Amino acid sequence: MFYFIYKINKKRENVFMKFKLGNYLKAYRAQVILGPFFKFLEAISDIMTPFLVAMILDKGIAGSDKNFVIWISVAVLAMNLAGFLFAIICQKCSAGASQGVGKDIRRDIYKKITSFSASEMDKYTTMSLTNRSVHDVSQIQSAIGMTIRKVSRAPFLLVGSVVMAMLIDVQLSCIFFVMIPLIFLLFFLVMRKMNPLFLDAKVELDNVSNVTRENLSGNRVVRAFNKQQHEKDRFDAENNKFIKVNLKIGTYGSILQPLLSLIANGCIIAVVYWGGFRVNIGALTTGQTVSFINYISQLATSLVVIARMIIVYTQTGASIKRIREIFELESAVKQKENAISFTDEVEPKIEFKNVSFSYNGIKDAIKDLSIVINPGETIGVIGGTGSGKSSLVNLIPRFYDVSKGEIKIGGKSIKDYDIQSLRNYVSIVPQNPTLFSGTIESNLKFRKNDATDEDIKKALIISQSYEFVSEKPNGVKTRVERGGSNFSGGQRQRLTIARAVVGNPKILILDDSSSALDFETDYRLRKALNTTLVGTTKIYVSQRTNSIRQADKIIVLDNGNVVGIGTHEDLLKNCNVYREIYESQNS
Ligand SMILES: Nc1ncnc2c1ncn2[C@@H]1O[C@H](COP(=O)(O)OP(=O)(O)OP(=O)(O)O)[C@@H](O)[C@H]1O
Ligand SMILES: [Mg+2]
Repeated sequence: MFYFIYKINKKRENVFMKFKLGNYLKAYRAQVILGPFFKFLEAISDIMTPFLVAMILDKGIAGSDKNFVIWISVAVLAMNLAGFLFAIICQKCSAGASQGVGKDIRRDIYKKITSFSASEMDKYTTMSLTNRSVHDVSQIQSAIGMTIRKVSRAPFLLVGSVVMAMLIDVQLSCIFFVMIPLIFLLFFLVMRKMNPLFLDAKVELDNVSNVTRENLSGNRVVRAFNKQQHEKDRFDAENNKFIKVNLKIGTYGSILQPLLSLIANGCIIAVVYWGGFRVNIGALTTGQTVSFINYISQLATSLVVIARMIIVYTQTGASIKRIREIFELESAVKQKENAISFTDEVEPKIEFKNVSFSYNGIKDAIKDLSIVINPGETIGVIGGTGSGKSSLVNLIPRFYDVSKGEIKIGGKSIKDYDIQSLRNYVSIVPQNPTLFSGTIESNLKFRKNDATDEDIKKALIISQSYEFVSEKPNGVKTRVERGGSNFSGGQRQRLTIARAVVGNPKILILDDSSSALDFETDYRLRKALNTTLVGTTKIYVSQRTNSIRQADKIIVLDNGNVVGIGTHEDLLKNCNVYREIYESQNS
């Protein structure tokens, strides 16, 4: 049977080995060994029952031996009770091991995903990662549970039925040798068709989930643009593809069962016909013929179980492949061995040396940028939409690594530092403000777990959030709904700024973080940042010249090219792009 499963999975280069499922199973060794053992004991009771029943019929009833009938009946009853108990123990082992392994794999997937850099996150959609850690892990769990419950029983019943039948009558057993290869051939043909469909079904599930997620999270936009019908059609199209693959799988699956019954029933007819003939010539008793038919039924049942196992293993192969993809994905942003941590002595001086960066290796999002940013300086980054501003600042905390050149902080390459420590040192407010469900306080403690009430108050004051937070009846304990949906866009932006300034970071980056604020609030925010975070190196990305005109240096980007670096006055004189932006906003 295992050779057969191996053949089915051959194309997958034995995924079970590569994924090292065995390592996870090791922790549940006891359940994995004891489960099948108890199931085996239960199978013995099953295999013996027809044999004993034949004895009752042939010796007890035919010989009118009442005592014999009673004793054998009691033995059958006791054996079945014990079998019931063994089945319960096996069930417990199966649940313990499968749930445990599932929990461990899910934990490791989560750990792995959190180690991904932004470029790995770009490769997979959120829903695909979610499906892999939920559905694909569940698939592995069912396979483990089923293996523990069936691995010893089904093959044992298969072999046991054949052996017991041969003990009864070797000639009649020849029927088995036609039946078994026929059924295996049937499995093989059907599975060859089903095999590729399992992976397709998972890809289609990802697609349906993605459309659903996009639709739900963009729900207001869909309504605002009256795109409900369009979205419904998009969903229907994906859903239909998903259904189509699953229907195909279902069709193949549904062929299997009736064909199996057909073969099994054909064999029973052959046994009755041939068996009757052998009873007539005295080579076989009626009881033996009845138990022979019982063994055929048992054999057919065990083959159905094996068929189901093969289907589940094939599906699990597809799931393991998807999980293995995650495990094998190396983070593009790698931690150096002997990486150093930031200390208070490290100066927040940032140097870009001929830095270029490309997302796809074809087009540069940043081309050849060189600049020295001294400790405590304020830098403005400006440029049209898509000019590379976010790409530039995302290189500093190593969300992506540079393609060429080098970035240094405090005189050392950022690649020399421990990544976690770097991200603690550099505090960034990303362009899309994200808040997590919890309270304002829990969100503000994200950067610094041990932030005091005083730290939080200070951060709220700097970010111009203090007023609106104080007006809430529960203050900093106010609940934040998922994604911060119970706050306005400007409030969300200010809270994400507050989160970034908790604990006085050495480097602060705001990526267009005041775009939703009115000019007055934006002005007060910048003033507060400049007066309170004196030694902090600040980088402000903005679309507005007025927000960055006070900066010590301004970097002007145009389609990835650095078209100017200098003060507001310098750039007005020397940089056409900057002057155009300024004039368009101030005329
Ligand atoms: N994750 C990504 N994968 C591939 N390309 C990307 C990715 N993010 C941005 N780009 C591309 O890189 C270029 C620069 O994008 P970037 O986000 O840096 O622009 P930006 O100046 O911040 O624009 P905006 O003002 O709209 O925020 C654009 O052409 C964009 O399409
Ligand atoms: Mg941007």
